[in-house]
Amino acid sequence: RMPILEQCYNLMDFEAVARRVMKKSAWAYYSSGADDEITMRENHSAYHKIWFRPRVLVDVETVDLSTTMLGTKVSIPFYVTATALGKLGNPEGEVVLTRGARKHNVIQMIPTLASCSFDEIVDAKEGDQVQWLQLYVNKERSITKRIIEHAERRGCKGLFITVDAPQLGRREKDMRSKFSDVGSNVQNTSGDNVDRSQGAARAISSFIDPSLSWKDIPWFKEVTKMPIILKGVQRVEDVIQAIAYGVDGVVLSNHGGRQLDFARSGIEVLAEVMPELRRLGLDKKIEIYVDGGVRRATDIIKALCLGATGVGIGRPFLYAMSAYGLPGVDRAMQLLKDEMEMNMRLIGCSSVDQLGPDLVDTRGLSMH
Ligand code: FNR
Repeated sequence: RMPILEQCYNLMDFEAVARRVMKKSAWAYYSSGADDEITMRENHSAYHKIWFRPRVLVDVETVDLSTTMLGTKVSIPFYVTATALGKLGNPEGEVVLTRGARKHNVIQMIPTLASCSFDEIVDAKEGDQVQWLQLYVNKERSITKRIIEHAERRGCKGLFITVDAPQLGRREKDMRSKFSDVGSNVQNTSGDNVDRSQGAARAISSFIDPSLSWKDIPWFKEVTKMPIILKGVQRVEDVIQAIAYGVDGVVLSNHGGRQLDFARSGIEVLAEVMPELRRLGLDKKIEIYVDGGVRRATDIIKALCLGATGVGIGRPFLYAMSAYGLPGVDRAMQLLKDEMEMNMRLIGCSSVDQLGPDLVDTRGLSMH
């Protein structure tokens, strides 16, 4: 029998239910990673190589999980990252995530390839709720310019340019399912004819410009006043380059293991990046985010200890939304809050600004 919502006690439980209730092709699209899925598996297991060095006898009666991301105060240091094709999992699509994010005062990143239209997702927000835009850059720059200007006008507070996908990775599970209802599930493509023989991902991505380069960054800065963040950076040299180009943030990410197989996990890259930025006195010049494989609040805490401002979470909210709709998303976020509050107490921290490298033992990471 299918577990009821109250029987989901952690984020992995939602995945198990989603796998059973979702359409096979939809499950294939959400769950797949590139090639042998080694990076996808590593994303979560890399967190298992980091151990805590808790402090004792600290007053942790009240714990404050709130922090600031790109100028926005949030209740807990994660955001809902951009994941395409929300209607594959839930007929209402991304607006379900908008409502969940609202309830928990976290930020939602809107994907270029959402199933709902961009305006539907913006219209679903309430009050001073904050959203960011994830951008796939179109070969036709006038289209991209229009998308950016529209997002800024509609109040988006961050432009996350995806830089790890000049070509979409081969997600073989997805390709095998030869996805057929792509057309009806995506709104924001360039209107190109889609080739459906290669799975959902490839069918919807043919407009992405593989010639995008550092030379284009000044153009984005002219087009918008929104903070610019590069999503998908994987080495310290590129973080330093981003700082030189006046970029406001980077997401250390491998696209949930869906692009380059054998890319390192975001947390592993973070452990390389932060000491080097500190050595060069650059660590305050840019905000560093991490995504991929974050499933437990201890994962969030570890990333913050290593210097991340926040983490992105993708699949778990898709699975929660697919299995149980908004109540599922709500419960998934609440579980993370409960887990984080408890674990902050157990490591001896009453607020996120107390999290630092002294609280983790990273000797198990492969960089050592
Ligand atoms: C993604 N991701 C993604 N990233 C992006 O920049 N544009 C996109 O359209 C998508 N689409 C997308 C669809 C699906 C189904 C998944 C699972 C992921 C990547 C996403 O933003 C993020 O990097 C990862 O999902 C983080 O890993 P976890 O939390 O899913 O393990």
